[in-house]
Amino acid sequence: MKELSVSNLLGIKYLTTEDLHLIFETADQFKEIINRPIKKVPSLRDITIANLFFENSTRTRLSFELAEKRLSADIINFSASSSSVTKGETLVDTVNNILAMKVDMVVMRHPNPGAGVFLSKHIGASIINAGDGAHEHPTQALLDVYSIREKYGDVKGKKIVIIGDIMHSRVALSNIFALKKLGAKVKVCGPNSLIPKHIESLGVEVEYNLAAALEWCEIANMLRVQHERMEHSYFPSTREYVQQYGVNKALLDTLSKPITIMHPGPINRGVEITSDVADSEHSIILNQVENGVAIRMAVMYLLASKIKQYEN
Ligand code: CP
Repeated sequence: MKELSVSNLLGIKYLTTEDLHLIFETADQFKEIINRPIKKVPSLRDITIANLFFENSTRTRLSFELAEKRLSADIINFSASSSSVTKGETLVDTVNNILAMKVDMVVMRHPNPGAGVFLSKHIGASIINAGDGAHEHPTQALLDVYSIREKYGDVKGKKIVIIGDIMHSRVALSNIFALKKLGAKVKVCGPNSLIPKHIESLGVEVEYNLAAALEWCEIANMLRVQHERMEHSYFPSTREYVQQYGVNKALLDTLSKPITIMHPGPINRGVEITSDVADSEHSIILNQVENGVAIRMAVMYLLASKIKQYEN
């Protein structure tokens, strides 16, 4: 059986191109299974997974939980706001207490970049990063790229523009790593203040003109402005942002061809994207959500097979 090169999924940065293909091929099989009348398989029947969310989530938390249930894992859920973290308990103490209950795998979302890497140095369980601050969100990038592969057959050579708040986006960074490993052409587009300096060193181009970026691309991945990660405003007003970087149907109608619209969610309708674009026939936003379950099943299945091998 083919296996991943890693024992944790801490970031796309740490994966090989072969790992990406293996995850996608495994997700193909799980996608077929979860569209059957009986959607559940016993693959992770002996595995216990803790979902640790130190930051809010809708899609990622529910998608992981559903994927775990489809794989027949035992699960426990932890939310920081209702836990002893509010009484001053450290991350390592919290996780070690959970691991004392014989947990095999930890899915963790945390506001601090590098939280997953830090934890992996202190605990033996397999860790999946479900988003760490503005650093990485590997399963989001996997489901995004998988959705492109599903629509176009291949990612190599495809032209993708990531639009919006690139500076504070873990989705942007993980997407860039995944897309470049698979040979896609990537541009980023947004206000100068929200584009990290030296981002070209990752192999992407910067385009400040939204209309030019949209005309160039085949796929536009829209990002929300992450006000929660900003200590001050990065542009004069939301109205001005919408005028310069909001995607609406009138703008798309000026292009020479239709383009595919993606968004990781949550959407701020009327800001980075209007409803008539988000809900249009060219939007694959809900396909992304659907594919998230198959991708997360694939990741957990492949990581769990390494735990089982280690025990044998
Ligand atoms: N895309 C994403 O990470 O959404 P949530 O914050 O709702 O999990």
